[in-house]
Amino acid sequence: MRAPAKINLELAVGRPGEDGYHPLATVFQAVSLYDEVTADDAPAGSFSVRVEGPGARRVPTGDGNLAVRAARAVAQLAEAERVDGLGVRLTVDKRIPVAGGMAGGSADAAAAIVACDALWGLQLSRSEMLEVAAGLGADVPFALLGGTAVGSGRGDRLTRALCHGSWHWVLLVAAGELSTPAVFGELDRLREGRAVMEPQLAPALMKALRSGDAAALGAALTNDLQVAAVSLRPELDLVLEQARVVGAAGVTISGSGPTVAVLGEDEEHAGELALALADAPGVARVIQVRGPVPGCRLIDQAARFETV
Ligand code: C5P
Repeated sequence: MRAPAKINLELAVGRPGEDGYHPLATVFQAVSLYDEVTADDAPAGSFSVRVEGPGARRVPTGDGNLAVRAARAVAQLAEAERVDGLGVRLTVDKRIPVAGGMAGGSADAAAAIVACDALWGLQLSRSEMLEVAAGLGADVPFALLGGTAVGSGRGDRLTRALCHGSWHWVLLVAAGELSTPAVFGELDRLREGRAVMEPQLAPALMKALRSGDAAALGAALTNDLQVAAVSLRPELDLVLEQARVVGAAGVTISGSGPTVAVLGEDEEHAGELALALADAPGVARVIQVRGPVPGCRLIDQAARFETV
């Protein structure tokens, strides 16, 4: 299975509910940076994962791993329908930055759902898979769906968004990680004593997506979590500033950061931005991607070589 990373083109955050989750209005886009997840047969009741690739050491491999939890959730659903003797050995080739705001863990979980369904021959429906996904985390349903979509609720209620053509992004992977709950908590702290509106999307971004106009999309990128991420990691401000200075069409952090998404006018311009930012202070890795791309998919060996 190949599962894409996501960026948030717009992210409006409301006041947290009693469960601690914040209501969101967001626009997700899946981009061409993927984790690969392989599922192999294992004895009944055995659920394990091995993680390879950059950052693998920082990913839990026990029951705290989201892909393992996804496999167990699918097995539970199957067992309720009297399918017994299930087990799986997962391998994750981790290319999406860990704790970077690009939903890499959610991508692995989505891939595990589809992979286990195929391995065990369950033929779960799309809506059953989406339900399992929503139970695992707010970003998991989008990793299944892919493309460009509007998310509401916790970010798990999705509607496809109309989008014209391809967009070309440069991802600046900042050194270090940011904890998602810490960034949401910092936003609440910064907003203390102030009125907070219900989260809403501005019409400008959806209009820009339909028009294919990079300057308009760049101007419409917003993320309420950016101020909180910068408050926790002030050096992020410099990364954002450097991307603006080299002439990006738009700049935003993705999700709760610290990854910064930089929009190019077209593929060539994005390539120039990637070169200009390769040695920028505070940037550990620069990755050029395009979006939207489909959600997680089964790949065969031939397709795999084509896309390397
Ligand atoms: O759902 P997921 O496990 O990915 O969320 C991680 C954390 O991010 C949550 O525990 C919560 O602290 C925060 N979060 C939130 N509101 C959302 C999504 C995530 O507060 N809509």
